[in-house]
Amino acid sequence: MASRRCRQCGYCTPGILITAKALLDREPHPTRERIREALSGNLCRCTGYLQIVEAVEAAAALTPDAGGRVHPR
Ligand code: FES
Repeated sequence: MASRRCRQCGYCTPGILITAKALLDREPHPTRERIREALSGNLCRCTGYLQIVEAVEAAAALTPDAGGRVHPR
């Protein structure tokens, strides 16, 4: 999240990270819609949610697919 510049005060960051980790544990390659749905209970007053969703997508891209390939963003 830091490299994607999606945190400012950091108040929401722990909840978003835990939620994203739980999602990626269940679904290593979620769709953007699934990421938005999973994070919908986390409120951020500082940033837009696009960068947060993109950070989760970037983390998912580092998880090897079924063929063992990684597709970094
Ligand atoms: S970064 Fe401040 S509430 Fe999310």
